[in-house]
Amino acid sequence: MTWTLHDLTEEQREIQGLARDFAQREVAPYAAELDHESRFDPAIVKKLGEVGFLGMLLPEEYEGLGLETSTYLIALEEIAAVDASTAVLMSVHNSLPTQMILRFGSTEQKDRLLRPMARGELLGAFALSEPEAGSDAAALTTQAVRDGDDWILTGTKSWVTSGSHADVIIAMARTDTREERKGARGIGAFIVTPDLPGFHVGKKEDKLGLRSSPTVQLNFDGMRVPAANVLGDPHLGFVYAMKSLDAGRLGIAAQAIGIARAALDASTSYAAERRQFDAPIRDFQAIQFKLADMSTRISAGRALLHLAAQAKDRGANVKQACSMAKLFASETAMFCTNQAVQIFGGYGYVKDYPVERYFRDAKVTEIYEGTSEIQRIVIARELYAHD
Ligand code: CAA
Repeated sequence: MTWTLHDLTEEQREIQGLARDFAQREVAPYAAELDHESRFDPAIVKKLGEVGFLGMLLPEEYEGLGLETSTYLIALEEIAAVDASTAVLMSVHNSLPTQMILRFGSTEQKDRLLRPMARGELLGAFALSEPEAGSDAAALTTQAVRDGDDWILTGTKSWVTSGSHADVIIAMARTDTREERKGARGIGAFIVTPDLPGFHVGKKEDKLGLRSSPTVQLNFDGMRVPAANVLGDPHLGFVYAMKSLDAGRLGIAAQAIGIARAALDASTSYAAERRQFDAPIRDFQAIQFKLADMSTRISAGRALLHLAAQAKDRGANVKQACSMAKLFASETAMFCTNQAVQIFGGYGYVKDYPVERYFRDAKVTEIYEGTSEIQRIVIARELYAHD
């Protein structure tokens, strides 16, 4: 039994139950096999759409569930506790492309895209990073040049989650190359669809973890994007991306807590069954202390996550809170999965038990949507922001 943050509301309990059932029925039976084969099954998108899990933060007028952020994160934790690859698809889709269109898109763009995205008919992705622009995202060099009613995009985007199967990709590109506009200002956010001439899916990454979530490069080769697909001000795309990444980071934090919890649950069961020195290994303090530390960090991470989510829904500035939640949760996932492998011993190092997958999946939460080092920079900068 693990301490939880608060009593869940009726709605939260219902969504948690729905997510738990969905994960057991539609995700758990295939997770290990898809990971082993490094294969994405597109059928999951339709299934997630059918239960409303691809429109969790969208208002009901766009066929979304219109949930509070905390409720969405509770569902995400349940999915991540079963399969982190499915969770990242859900996190990116709900937190980034759909939210960017909702917050910064025109009425026409919202009407055209949000309902099919909520239904799971259109899958979303987010393309900010490039081969030479990772942590320093504003250094991106993909060019967007105006040509009549269109923009011509040329460049390569990297590490695009779901990029090979996405139907709507929000891609950031430099719209103003004048010397005085270099940096964060002068970057646009474009709605890119795979049917655009010059759109190519490039290299598929062969990853340590999240192996059933496809991560690809996208190549834009003089790709012609209609001006109707520019989000908001064509020079403010970077600011839009940063604002959206705050919520994105909460999604990754929930994913990390889900992975950590799965590692704890597996470890608790194993420690009750596994016998050494004539006793179940949970009788030994060496094991009890590991389980206690795991459980404490998970509860602390979950508390930080939901405090940030509640502050976000109150309209507070949550830049620092989101970075703290993501930093702590991702380091908790790494800590807990490492302890889990240790508790399982040799059995933790092979694929017969799931903790080996949890360990591999946890690592990326310290890297994507801003590394732990970037989160510390954001947190530290905010300490002086109002001087
Ligand atoms: N909320 C609102 N505005 C923000 C903001 C936020 N959280 N963060 C930055 N901004 C605004 C700033 O106010 C500034 O606006 P003004 O020009 O009006 O002042 C502008 O954006 C530029 O901000 P900075 O000056 O802080 O920019 P910087 O170049 O110093 O970069 C950084 C800041 C924090 C290091 C940023 O580059 C960063 O977060 N890097 C990490 C990149 C990242 O997270 N990538 C994720 C890739 S996506 C991914 O992984 C998705 C996936 O598929 C899983």
